[in-house]
Amino acid sequence: MFWLLTLLAYLIGSLSFAILLSRLAGMPDPRAGGSGNPGATNMLRLAGKRLAICTLFGDLLKGLLPVLLAASLDMSVQQQAWIGLAAVCGHLYPLYFRFRGGKGVATAAGTLLALYPPAALLAIVAWLLVFRLTRTSSLAALIALPLCLPLLAWQQPGALLPMSLLATLIVWRHRSNVRDLFAGRERHF
Ligand code: G3P
Repeated sequence: MFWLLTLLAYLIGSLSFAILLSRLAGMPDPRAGGSGNPGATNMLRLAGKRLAICTLFGDLLKGLLPVLLAASLDMSVQQQAWIGLAAVCGHLYPLYFRFRGGKGVATAAGTLLALYPPAALLAIVAWLLVFRLTRTSSLAALIALPLCLPLLAWQQPGALLPMSLLATLIVWRHRSNVRDLFAGRERHF
C-alpha cells in the first residue's frame, strides 16, 4: 500500500497547475515567460492574481491530500513524509510535462501542513515576513523552509530525513534564484 500511495502521490504531484491553468486560459506556457518557473509566483507575474491564487492552492493540495490519505490509512509519520516527498518530486519532475516542473514550495507547504501544522504555520509566517520586507518570493522560500526543520525534527523526528531531502531538493531547484540574489538581479514585486 505504501508504494502504491507513493506512486499515486508522484502522479498527483506531476499535475502542474500553472501549466494546466495557463492552457485552460489560452495563455502561453509559464515556462516560456518571466522566471520560466511553472509556479504561483511566476503566474502572478504572467497571469495575474486570480490564476496565481488558483495555482498556489492547487499545488498546495497536491502535497496535502496524499499525506492526509496516508495518515488516514494509519501509516507512520515517516511513511507520510516519504509520500509527501514523492508529491513534491512529481511537481519538480512532472511525468506529464517532460519532467520540466517547478520549484516545489507550495507543494512542500501542503506536505508540511498535513504532517505537522505548527511547522507549516511557522514556515508560512516566516515566508510572509521575509516577503513583506524584501518583496522577493525566492528569498522568502529559501529562508522559511529550512527554518521550520528543527521544529519538525523535535516534534516529528520520523519525518526529518525525507523532509531534509525535500528541503535540499527545493534549495537545489532555486539555484538560479540564489545566483541572481547574489548578483543583485533577482526579480522583486
Ligand atoms: O515558489 C517559487 C519561488 O520561490 C521562486 O519563483 O518565479 O521567482 O523563480 P520565481
